[in-house]
Amino acid sequence: MAADTLFRRITDYANRADPYPLYAELREHGVARQDNGSYLVGTYHEIAALLHDPRISSDRRNRTVPDAAPGMPAAFIARDDPEHERLRNIAMRPFGPPHSPGRIDAMHGEITAIAKELIDALEGRDRIDLVDDFAYPLPVTVICRLLGVPREDEPRFSAWSQAIIGGVDPTPGSDPAERQRAAMAARMAMGRYLGDLADSRRGKPSCDMLSAFVNDPGPEGGFNRLELMSTAVLLLIAGHETTVNLITNGMLTLLRYPEALKLLRREPALMPRAVEELLRYEPPVHMLPQRTALTDVEVAAVTVVKGAPLILVLASGSRDPKRFRDPDHFDPTRQDNQHFGFGSGVHICFGAPLARIEAQIALTELTRRLERPRLVEDPPPYRRSPILRGPRHLPLEIAGIKA
Ligand code: HEM
Repeated sequence: MAADTLFRRITDYANRADPYPLYAELREHGVARQDNGSYLVGTYHEIAALLHDPRISSDRRNRTVPDAAPGMPAAFIARDDPEHERLRNIAMRPFGPPHSPGRIDAMHGEITAIAKELIDALEGRDRIDLVDDFAYPLPVTVICRLLGVPREDEPRFSAWSQAIIGGVDPTPGSDPAERQRAAMAARMAMGRYLGDLADSRRGKPSCDMLSAFVNDPGPEGGFNRLELMSTAVLLLIAGHETTVNLITNGMLTLLRYPEALKLLRREPALMPRAVEELLRYEPPVHMLPQRTALTDVEVAAVTVVKGAPLILVLASGSRDPKRFRDPDHFDPTRQDNQHFGFGSGVHICFGAPLARIEAQIALTELTRRLERPRLVEDPPPYRRSPILRGPRHLPLEIAGIKA
């Protein structure tokens, strides 16, 4: 099959439920140059090398054809060092080590309570939608608490997030210019809201991250207003759109592998390892579409031309048989599992410790408390995005809720 149409086929919604055969085809080609001039990479060792290569940029301004100017500066996920490092360090100060060790572990009780409350509310139902009833509200509540967003404002984030995610959806068909405009407007609205909220905390320190950003900026001097806005938007979007998919893909996989579900019910201590395997086997982030080569770079005997879009298909790398034994098999006890679920290199996921405990708690509570859960549709209906991939709905029949 033609390598130059692979991206079109991968992003075709018809292939969303099972893109893995196309990834196998991609790995056969090594690097696949597309007819629009971009390059796709899907093999483990090449992706790992590129994620650690300083000649590869995350800043789209380095593309030969840059994107339309965004209304707000891009966040640090789309910047290179040293700017990326400075902003990431400031953002990390109230989130994790070295300045805030224990911050995320301390949320264990609160996350368990939120999960418990969401499951309690399912009492009396024999049919649920795991996405709307559980997987979507859990991470949005957690990230809002962490940032310090008042509970009554949480619902405002869903519409903004959907529009922002739509902006990076490369699926052909719907008008990309219109999607970009809607995404830009939503980023601006969310950024203004979060910037104003941070301003209202100035001089009134509390234990949330927005308050820390304005009241305890640290030795690097903190964020200016636009940096704070774009970072807060990044944390909010990255902090929930991905975790929803991990929980939903996780439950879907466990229902497809009943032996694994039984094992985890019997031995919940295996859940952290099972979550790592889910991040390899059914990851929420399928590809990184924003890399660009700063100079011509040789990859698997192909020259990736300076300024061309370089798309790293992480989900393909994590199923590469040259790196993982029996990669298309879900094995919740797998050892030696250095997957790309959180990326790798300087941009490796900032929120990984939080995402891990959220998924571990969510799946532990769900496997323990849902009685005889059964998939109503397999495959379930998927969300549009080929980048952040996961079911839009996961209808389940259940026989009840355990205490
Ligand atoms: C299951 C959930 C999650 C997954 C699968 C995930 C995945 C990823 C991946 C693959 C990257 C690398 C992007 C790149 O190299 O361009 C990344 C970066 C990032 N993630 Fe996550 N993420 C998750 C949850 C979170 C959470 C909960 C937060 C925030 C609290 C978060 C914040 C970020 C940020 C800020 C970056 C940019 C890091 C940088 O550029 O240095 N993520 N994430």
